[in-house]
Amino acid sequence: MKIRKAVFPVAGLGTRFLPATKAMPKELLPIIDKPIIQYAVEEAIAAGITELVFVTGRTKRAIEDHFDANPELERALRDKGKNDVAEMVRKIVPEGITCIFLRQPEALGLGHAVLCAESVVGREPFAVLLADDVMRGDLPTAALVAEYAKAPGTILSVMEVAPQDAQNYGIVRPGPNGEVAGLVEKPKPGREPSCLASIGRYVLEPEIFDILRAQPPGHGGEIQLADAINSRATAGNVRAVTLTGQRYDCGSKLGYLEAIVDFALQHDEFGDPFAKLIARKAPCSGAEGKA
Ligand code: UTP
Repeated sequence: MKIRKAVFPVAGLGTRFLPATKAMPKELLPIIDKPIIQYAVEEAIAAGITELVFVTGRTKRAIEDHFDANPELERALRDKGKNDVAEMVRKIVPEGITCIFLRQPEALGLGHAVLCAESVVGREPFAVLLADDVMRGDLPTAALVAEYAKAPGTILSVMEVAPQDAQNYGIVRPGPNGEVAGLVEKPKPGREPSCLASIGRYVLEPEIFDILRAQPPGHGGEIQLADAINSRATAGNVRAVTLTGQRYDCGSKLGYLEAIVDFALQHDEFGDPFAKLIARKAPCSGAEGKA
């Protein structure tokens, strides 16, 4: 079965970015001029997905506005002769793509947010993309969809992390024949079953909803998606695809800053001047940097 739908859980509280996220969704934080959620949406569309399901919450209405048409703005831009900008705004959601918005009444965890999408997803496989993980280069959702097309199953996007960082991730317990035998959410230092971390891209099967519905809160008192995937793995057929592109953890301030710097350095218009600016400010540039 083809993957047609993607779920974007965007109902989290975004506490690491307060006060910016008190009234504004974390998912609309920009990298230069594009909100991080738009990168994830473009990745899903590039993977052939046509139905975008956003699980939102309070203070997240601006996400709905961002993906809604804005004829007044387009008209104003065209009146000023800015046709290319008007076109760019119009194409934020290309033709043939449907957006659906649901509410998670309370931020009870990522697993709970995914469960909130059940009525719209129905009994078909679907992708999940976390906007916090901004990707560059080879995009993982297309790779997950391609892996699912080879044989159905739960497909995780994974990347290698240093052992001391494993405690910040859902870590894969490797099984036979390259399968995933389990997923351990934020293992205690020294107890990590591998150095393969699950990142914010998944292809899931509808059976995950049955597991999530019955699942008690896990780490941090939240309904964890990792716990549900772990249960699914005990029944077999959970596989992992290793990320080949670059991933930025934009849920953390340092990861977000790194993304901004990298995207700016590669920017067509001001990559070069920005590189010069950075070089001037870098402490390793010696006396000039300290001046
Ligand atoms: P995070 O835990 O990274 O996001 O969840 P958060 O809770 O918003 O951020 P902090 O830790 O307080 O700074 C990963 C993704 O899951 C969504 C978030 O919006 C984010 O995109 N999420 C999390 C939900 O949709 N609902 C939840 O109850 C929890």
